[in-house]
Amino acid sequence: MKMIIDTDPGVDDAIAIALAHALPEINLIGLTTVFGNTRVDQSSRNARFLLDMLGSDAPVAEGAAKPWNDYPFEPSAWVHGPEGLGDLAEVPQIGKNHPLPAAEFLVEMARQHKGELVICAIAPLTNIADALALDPEFADNLGKLVIMGGNLHCPGNITEYAEANIYHDPNAADAVFASNLKTVMVGLDVTLQTLLVPEDFAALAASAPTTGGFINRISEFYLKFYKEVANLDGCPMHDAAAILACSDPDWFGHETTGLKVSSDGDNIGATLADTSRPNVQVATKIDAKAALSKLKSALSHLH
Ligand code: RIB
Ligand code: CA
Repeated sequence: MKMIIDTDPGVDDAIAIALAHALPEINLIGLTTVFGNTRVDQSSRNARFLLDMLGSDAPVAEGAAKPWNDYPFEPSAWVHGPEGLGDLAEVPQIGKNHPLPAAEFLVEMARQHKGELVICAIAPLTNIADALALDPEFADNLGKLVIMGGNLHCPGNITEYAEANIYHDPNAADAVFASNLKTVMVGLDVTLQTLLVPEDFAALAASAPTTGGFINRISEFYLKFYKEVANLDGCPMHDAAAILACSDPDWFGHETTGLKVSSDGDNIGATLADTSRPNVQVATKIDAKAALSKLKSALSHLH
């Protein structure tokens, strides 16, 4: 499966990118970056650093620095750390971004790999909405869009109504759900069931000293956030769940419905059922045990 990950790394993004690299069934042909957990320049720098650590030569194409309609935004540094990778105060600049902006890269790759490309979008959907606006054939050319985002039958995480990726650019997300993209939504309805605990990260560090050791290091900040804010003794693998929805779709149960996104009022960023919209496959069930087991096993075989 040819995949591009649209990302705002981000601690759970880093784990998802490592997972995609580790899975033999995924051919990671590139990353596109966007604001969200971090500023977009930090997202691009972190993405290139992670790929270098993994030994991947996939390109990184930088995307949107801010949401549509000048909607106010601030990086979620309190969740993922000041530079987006836990307590790391500095992240080296390795390599350079791809010459194309993210939206043009996505449009070009969808055209080149017509019907075969899967985009796994684990960040605000600005780049995806920009690609739709750029090329009227993008929705037909793309094989599938699998997003980490949204919440249909459960509360939000950045507000009581909204999940962070959708909340960070509600207008772009609404444009994606209004389109004919073949979309699967992997939201909080399932990702909150995928908790990794400190012992899991320590075991990863022991089995994969470089990559697992790095993941263990950056997870500490993320674990601390979830303990303090939600009194959880683990952290959800939001983004890795979206990767697994691509590699192992049978581990997910879905509800089929059109969706819209509230773009004002108290519930701004909420994903709401809308039968007038094209159908989206919304994940409402997950075999969390199988998903977590595959995640830990795949990462443990990295270096
Ligand atoms: O709500 C969780 C999502 O927001 C994840 O993608 C996380 O990385 C943040 O981007
Ligand atoms: Ca993310």
